[in-house]
Amino acid sequence: MSAIYPSLKDRAVFITGGASGIGAALVEAFHGQGARVGFIDRDADAGAALAGRLGRVWFQPCDVTDAGALTGAIAAAAQAIGPIRVLINNVANDSRHVAAETDAAAWRAHLAVNLDPTFLASTAVQPGMKAAGGGVILNLSSINALLGPAGMPAYVAAKGAVNALTKGLAREWGPDNIRVNAISPGWVVTERQLALWLTPEAEAAWMEQVALKRRIEPADIADLALFLASDQARAITGQNHVIDGGRT
Ligand SMILES: NC(=O)c1ccc[n+]([C@@H]2O[C@H](COP(=O)([O-])OP(=O)(O)OC[C@H]3O[C@@H](n4cnc5c(N)ncnc54)[C@H](O)[C@@H]3O)[C@@H](O)[C@H]2O)c1
Repeated sequence: MSAIYPSLKDRAVFITGGASGIGAALVEAFHGQGARVGFIDRDADAGAALAGRLGRVWFQPCDVTDAGALTGAIAAAAQAIGPIRVLINNVANDSRHVAAETDAAAWRAHLAVNLDPTFLASTAVQPGMKAAGGGVILNLSSINALLGPAGMPAYVAAKGAVNALTKGLAREWGPDNIRVNAISPGWVVTERQLALWLTPEAEAAWMEQVALKRRIEPADIADLALFLASDQARAITGQNHVIDGGRT
């Protein structure tokens, strides 16, 4: 059960990659606040299913690596739910790769999903937020930007850049009351993590390294996002909020 934030009621909230995992928990959590939620995802079936289950949610299939499609979807969402006041840059792809086998095209492809959309979506919503007297941008980063594990150098670099971009935009847009924060989760139990990497052995090793001996669920991340998006976080910007059960 989440806290209720009156400032989020009727707020226009736009979420990238909202059809599954943490993104779906964000869609559901903001919907539960009575916000006007719009989201995009390249998985048309999962997105339509979530929007259909919740009702009162705007969804459009979109591949965020297509810059025109991304900004077009933001414009369409603003038409439907009103000028975006909360943007959550959630989309990412953490597929594994080693540096020696990552050529220029593969490097660019990783950044095209893990970094570029955060900048492009932010600049797309900024004029509307400024005109409305302020807004909130939340960028999903990762503790992997702090830990730098092997086997995902482009992902790690993109998340490091997301952290730095968060600070840069917070400073640039703070005078317009636009707050920009990063959220860095630890290992969150999503469908994808369970299917690909979260074996009992890997989870046991993780539990050895964390202070809190509990799983981190997508709803745990959504609860932090609700607070940061609400007016209760009105003095917080330019920060990286780590939510990892005490891993780092
Ligand atoms: N799950 C974790 O343990 C974890 C840990 C640290 C950080 N994060 C970060 O949290 C955010 C959400 O992670 P998640 O685990 O829920 O991810 P996920 O892979 O489970 O879900 C990502 C969603 O984005 C969509 N998507 C992927 N590529 C897309 C594209 N090109 N265009 C449009 N949609 C696309 C997918 O269809 C999916 O619905 C990401 O930024 C991720 O880096 C997750």
